Amino acid sequence: MKPQVFLTRRVPDPVLGRLVASFAISDEIAGSAGLVTIPADVVGGGLFDVAGSDLRVVANFGVGYDSVDVAEATRRGIVVSNTPDVLTEATAELTIALLLALLRRVAEGDRLVRRRDEWALAPTFMLGEGLAGKTLGIVGLGRIGREVARLAEAFGMRIVHTRGSGPYEELPLERLLAEADVVSLHVPLTPETRHLIGVRELALMRPNAVLVNVSRGPVVAEAAMVDALAEGRIAGAALDVYEHEPEVSAGLIELENVVLLPHLGSSTHAAREAMGMLCADALEAVLLRNELPANAVNPEAWDPE
Ligand code: DGY
Repeated sequence: MKPQVFLTRRVPDPVLGRLVASFAISDEIAGSAGLVTIPADVVGGGLFDVAGSDLRVVANFGVGYDSVDVAEATRRGIVVSNTPDVLTEATAELTIALLLALLRRVAEGDRLVRRRDEWALAPTFMLGEGLAGKTLGIVGLGRIGREVARLAEAFGMRIVHTRGSGPYEELPLERLLAEADVVSLHVPLTPETRHLIGVRELALMRPNAVLVNVSRGPVVAEAAMVDALAEGRIAGAALDVYEHEPEVSAGLIELENVVLLPHLGSSTHAAREAMGMLCADALEAVLLRNELPANAVNPEAWDPE
């Protein structure tokens, strides 16, 4: 009998094809030996209880697994996996896309044209900022942060960073915030990084600096950021994630100096398919071969049957 697997969301067709070949894809969580969840799910004791005692593996369709109660999974001997590397490029590209959209006023210009506002080419019309010569402060120089740095260097940006190692100048967060023209967040959400950027940190940023967040919404105290933007204490923000996602603060919607995306960091066809394949790898490892998956985030939970 094929092991039962429950998917909380639809997955790309090639991934589904592979899963269907090896597993009984169920409409019910109860009785599942494997789950595929996404970062928008709340994955913890409640869900594990519903799944029941056959549950052995949770494949998180995402690199960030802050939505999973890993400690509780470990306590129950449930292996949790994630999907690193295959989305690094997509997420870094989106960071640059957001930054260009903000500084070159791409989204704002698009809104203007669609509103059919009157406009005409003029020497001072809708001026923005270029990337060359600007200082990019990367908060969290991990896989995605490093790729953002590599791309940004090609645009002529100077890179500084906190946390992580790389060929760039490392600065304490306070100094990075004070020096950077662009502050870009690439840390996972943990108890230490929740509200890493709050009132105090926003006050350290320069009034002409902008904030980019493609990591997790709660890394920024959103209400404090809205105030800083509305009062012109920072020049703009480009956001892919929100503190109470999918809700977006009303204050943000009203501002022209922000670019807002609906959590698209890894949303290329190629990245999403590769992420799904890593989930399939994890399910197959545990449920078909009785092996610890390569991308297990809690190997200590592993108890071969
Ligand atoms: C991730 O991988 O953590 C993204 O946020 C979801 O694609």
